[in-house]
Amino acid sequence: MPGAMERAHPARVYDYLLGGRDNYPVDRRAAEEGLRANPASRVPPRENRAFLRRVVGHLAGERGVRQFLDIGTGIPTSPNVHEVAQAVAPDARVVYVDNDPIVLAHAAGLLRGAPPGRTGYVDADLRDVERILASPQLRAVLDLDRPVAVVLVAIMHFVADADGPYEIVRRLLDAVPSGSYLALSHLTGDFDPDAWDRVAAIFARDGVTLRVRSRAEIARFFDGLDLLDPGLPLVTRWRPDAAVNLAATDAEVAVYGGVARKP
Ligand SMILES: C[S@@+](CC[C@H](N)C(=O)[O-])C[C@H]1O[C@@H](n2cnc3c(N)ncnc32)[C@H](O)[C@@H]1O
Repeated sequence: MPGAMERAHPARVYDYLLGGRDNYPVDRRAAEEGLRANPASRVPPRENRAFLRRVVGHLAGERGVRQFLDIGTGIPTSPNVHEVAQAVAPDARVVYVDNDPIVLAHAAGLLRGAPPGRTGYVDADLRDVERILASPQLRAVLDLDRPVAVVLVAIMHFVADADGPYEIVRRLLDAVPSGSYLALSHLTGDFDPDAWDRVAAIFARDGVTLRVRSRAEIARFFDGLDLLDPGLPLVTRWRPDAAVNLAATDAEVAVYGGVARKP
């Protein structure tokens, strides 16, 4: 089994592409190789992260959401979900979940200064939904009888078809009441399938599944939910603010994103 420094990890590759410092040579090599395979691959992380910020601000603000379950947290990149949510609503509660030991190693730093009892971290795999939902760390922070925003931003493309991605999302949404939300973004090969095939091959070498999906496949995650305006566009077109890179082409952005309410 290769060690942490011998194998590229998605969280650290993403961190490198965002300009972070929490990555090893093996991650930088994979990221640089990815950039050669698809020179635009720096755009999706930045625009996706900006989408996450806008979504959480919208949910905590206009929608009055007070509980967030952010699965696939990643290495902390300010502003993190609790910082955005608690800036709008200091009583907002946020639970982070990731399965990467590197992200776990950052959890203490992520939560430093966060209001105790209102922010937590669960070290678990998304594919083990029941374990996440039953975890004492989650239960200490979130009340699953009240609405929760389930945040699956840039994680479902790491879930292979064989692992039942639609079932995973359905089980999560089944566990939260009406008035809850799903916020989801996902890489797509719709605009440049060859480039993303090359990137997926680089991840595969390190044992990581990267399954980009079409818009129709991504839309299925929202089945049975009411999509908020403007639906499921590329993330740059989801309620853009002044920070959005409007010059980026569709092929460069390559991430669809949407938010839906559970009726
Ligand atoms: C590209 S990062 C996204 C980070 C953050 N959500 C964002 O959008 O800025 C994907 C994260 O998902 C995590 N991840 C991937 N597969 C996972 C799984 N099966 N269970 C839990 N976390 C997973 C990775 O460790 C990584 O931290």
